[in-house]
Amino acid sequence: MRKKIVAGNWKMNKNLQEGITLAQEVEKMASGVSGEVELIIAPPFIHLTEVKKLLGRVKLGAQNCASEASGAFTGEVSAAMLASAGVQYVIIGHSERRSYYGETNSIINKKVRLALENNLHPIFCCGEVLSEREKGAHFDVVRKQVEEGLFTLSSEEFSKVIIAYEPVWAIGTGVNATPAQAQEMHQYIRSLIAGKYGETAANNTSILYGGSCKPSNAGELFANPDVDGGLIGGASLKADDFIGIAKAF
Ligand code: 13P
Repeated sequence: MRKKIVAGNWKMNKNLQEGITLAQEVEKMASGVSGEVELIIAPPFIHLTEVKKLLGRVKLGAQNCASEASGAFTGEVSAAMLASAGVQYVIIGHSERRSYYGETNSIINKKVRLALENNLHPIFCCGEVLSEREKGAHFDVVRKQVEEGLFTLSSEEFSKVIIAYEPVWAIGTGVNATPAQAQEMHQYIRSLIAGKYGETAANNTSILYGGSCKPSNAGELFANPDVDGGLIGGASLKADDFIGIAKAF
């Protein structure tokens, strides 16, 4: 059975001291969240080793990893390095990486493979921009991202993957997808998985929603049968809001 997950993507926010404080608050408040809900925080790279020492109930994620295993790639952080620092999850293919850093589906696929080789769970992001939705291309865009990013994996590898549907027009805009829009796309993604890996694999895959998710709308989004939780940006920067979302199931 698939897990319920609420993951916080801090993006490029919080200096180290602020990050430590936020992680401490989240860990403390996490005791009030149902044990059925997996909680993950993904701080910036530089925070990871310090934050790791503070966490127990809450799991640790990174926001990215390199598309190469090691070597002369100045400024990059490898999946193996993340694993060695006690990281368990890694966000891959976020729309900000795709649009600002030119990450293609094939680069993202390499990152997913390296994450899996290092026993990290990829949190694979997909989602359309507004113009694609307006012309009715959103299903095709997401299908291509999922097929090219993930569908080279074996069933065994795929079973470690978490998917996050994040419509780009909903990220940081205050305009979330409606519960019906989220459900429709999540159901579609699950049908793609069923077609490739079978019904059981599809039923066991956690598909998270991301994009302006907050305590006031999380309940109606998570109530949908194919929405298994959230990938939270802005609202993960306040422990109260993040935990409020996790309590919305
Ligand atoms: P917001 O929750 O700030 O819209 O960001 C969503 C996101 O991009 C999480 O990865």
